Amino acid sequence: MKKRGFLIYPSTTPRENNAFEWFREAAAAYGIELEVLFYSTPAAQAPEGAPDWEPDFVIMRGYNISLSRWYESRGVKVINTTESMLLSRDKYRSAGSLALAGIPVPRTFMFHGDSVPAYPEITTSPFILKLNYGSKGENVFLIDCERGYREALEACSREKLRRIEALDRGICEFGETLEEIGYGCTPLIQEFISASSGRDIRVWVTGDEIAGHILRYNPSGFKSNFAAGGSYRRIPLPQEAASAALAAVRTSGLFFAGVDLLFDSSGGFKVCEINGNAGFRTASADIPDALFRNLVKIL
Ligand SMILES: Nc1ncnc2c1ncn2[C@@H]1O[C@H](COP(=O)(O)OP(=O)(O)O)[C@@H](O)[C@H]1O
Ligand SMILES: [Mg+2]
Repeated sequence: MKKRGFLIYPSTTPRENNAFEWFREAAAAYGIELEVLFYSTPAAQAPEGAPDWEPDFVIMRGYNISLSRWYESRGVKVINTTESMLLSRDKYRSAGSLALAGIPVPRTFMFHGDSVPAYPEITTSPFILKLNYGSKGENVFLIDCERGYREALEACSREKLRRIEALDRGICEFGETLEEIGYGCTPLIQEFISASSGRDIRVWVTGDEIAGHILRYNPSGFKSNFAAGGSYRRIPLPQEAASAALAAVRTSGLFFAGVDLLFDSSGGFKVCEINGNAGFRTASADIPDALFRNLVKIL
């Protein structure tokens, strides 16, 4: 029988220039009927008593933990699982779980408690300061002086206010409670992997398969994100990068993921982050095709 899935986006997603059709066509090639819905679309939530509303799976293109948990409670397969999404959004917790699994990551510290250390207590310079929850390279800073440190902390505080205001308007991408927003806005201090400055490898994984990869580079900044001014080009994927990406995705429990890999000075790789809601426009391969090719195996 034909399988049916929902692809669910935040309500704020622009309706133009999106990958809706790309996903729908890729799904159709595997006999799957895919409906694009938004958090606010009534159909994204079950009309009680309607017998055949239930999809075979749901793909979440954002962080709506209540909705995602609700589907799971109904026995619907959710890509990615709520738990794996919560873990991958949490850069501090995911770095810890990767390190525990023996996967190399930059050394990462979180400011526990309500005060942040004064600059002189931070010894290695330069270092990275980033928000625990974030994307597109926003609120990621390279710090080499006390003034830069103070400005970065101020930017983090402004971002926290912005997220609290967004929550007031019902936007739940960065947490559904003030406490969670606070946790996501906690700054992390991270070892700067200088050999990787301005470049990394983004690897997309679906299931146990490498679906695509690209070198991202930025000649005029340390951040390689496309949104932060980075460019991209094809390179062969080093075996060690492939193994690190697959191991990171397996450890996190994600089914569909983007992994950012930093080049370390010994020729190996460190996992910068695992992304459970990765974009794929810059990929050199058809990522939605790989997603559905692997998804049909587990439906
Ligand atoms: N510890 C680090 N050492 C070197 N470069 C880093 C480090 N952390 C982040 N970067 C650079 O900044 C970019 C954005 O950081 P990342 O943690 O992936 O945040 P985001 O979720 O916003 O993409 C990375 O792709 C990488 O180019
Ligand atoms: Mg990233």
